[in-house]
Amino acid sequence: MLTERRVHLCVSGGIAAYKAVELCRALQKAGADVRVAMTPNARHFVGPLTFQAITHAPVLTATLDPSDEMAIGHIDFAQSCDALVVAPATANLLAKAALGLGDEVVSTVLLATDRPVVIAPAMNTVMFENPAVQANLRTLAARGWHIVSPDAGELACGAVGPGRLPDAEVIVRAVVDALGPRRLAGRRIVVSAGPTREHIDPVRFLSNPSTGRMGFAVAAAAARAGASVTLVHGPVSLTPPAGVRAVPVISAIDMCAAVLAAAEGADAVVMTAAVADYRPEAASETKQKKTPGPRSLSLVRTPDILAELGARRADGARPVLVGFAAETGDPVAEAQAKRARKRVDLVVANDVSAVGSGFGTDTNRVWLVGEAVEALPLLPKAEVAARLVEWLADHLEGS
Ligand code: C5P
Repeated sequence: MLTERRVHLCVSGGIAAYKAVELCRALQKAGADVRVAMTPNARHFVGPLTFQAITHAPVLTATLDPSDEMAIGHIDFAQSCDALVVAPATANLLAKAALGLGDEVVSTVLLATDRPVVIAPAMNTVMFENPAVQANLRTLAARGWHIVSPDAGELACGAVGPGRLPDAEVIVRAVVDALGPRRLAGRRIVVSAGPTREHIDPVRFLSNPSTGRMGFAVAAAAARAGASVTLVHGPVSLTPPAGVRAVPVISAIDMCAAVLAAAEGADAVVMTAAVADYRPEAASETKQKKTPGPRSLSLVRTPDILAELGARRADGARPVLVGFAAETGDPVAEAQAKRARKRVDLVVANDVSAVGSGFGTDTNRVWLVGEAVEALPLLPKAEVAARLVEWLADHLEGS
């Protein structure tokens, strides 16, 4: 059920922490690759060595680890998994998560994650029913976290009522449900991302402000959906998502060669890259000296990679082609024209003049312009990527 899935387990300091050991084993038995993080209080109930022994990996116990050169173990832990599970989650941890506090490693991990979170509260019944705890649970559920309701029964403190950590199988099932189906399993997807640089001389180039975030999010979402992903990217300062084959390039010509090679036999190509349309006619091998007065630069067109893919493809054949269109006019009309001109299946139109949309933002407001037009609200780029992956899966299943 969880084969090839990375599940990161966060343990907080309740009596049920000992049951997290069994949950860790159950997640592994379901096929997951499991890593564990523990709050300082959890370590009063069960030792990190226990988890280390069964996961064959170090347990994250501190936000600032002097042995970690970059001291970003918590960020990596938060973002390199398919899902996070918090079990047991204490009332204190729920409150910190609801408020956005990060005063120890687990609450900090929860602040830094963009992955599905499954949270299994376990505590005394009166605490669980406390309006503050219930309000925090509602807040977390409203943010899309998956809450596993505690079982009712006799608790360690002697009280009888809801508050027991459910059986490991129930929590494993919640993780499977939260991850959703691997709709791109067995598919090969090529994604391009970021800007290109068209050098004028060794120290100067023409480029644009693309950060690559949208394309990296698409690559991550496709990989999470089970695809084998090649990410051809221009110069960006992002780390490629886990499990993705990254091909770094500099210029439009390099990107063209890398994308066309990777597209051979691929099921889909998603071009999110902001490819330069022009390059200097001749790049100087040595640094150009400045001279008095104006200067002109002769530019020639770069290959249109997407149009090239569209032209090479027979009608209805693979790969499915998706382009992105950054527009400042009427995004849908422009995207429809672009879709026909480049002979592609879908153009994701993006109004780059809108607040919170376009280059360098974390959110995007897009229209999926295919045979039908679907308007999406302003969404985090990760969510736009997830919607695009759903579209790809639908399209690949239907064709
Ligand atoms: O024509 P326009 O640049 O607006 O088209 C944008 C789409 O075409 C994007 O998907 C972009 O990655 C792709 N493109 C390309 N090669 C170019 C320019 C754009 O593949 N030279």
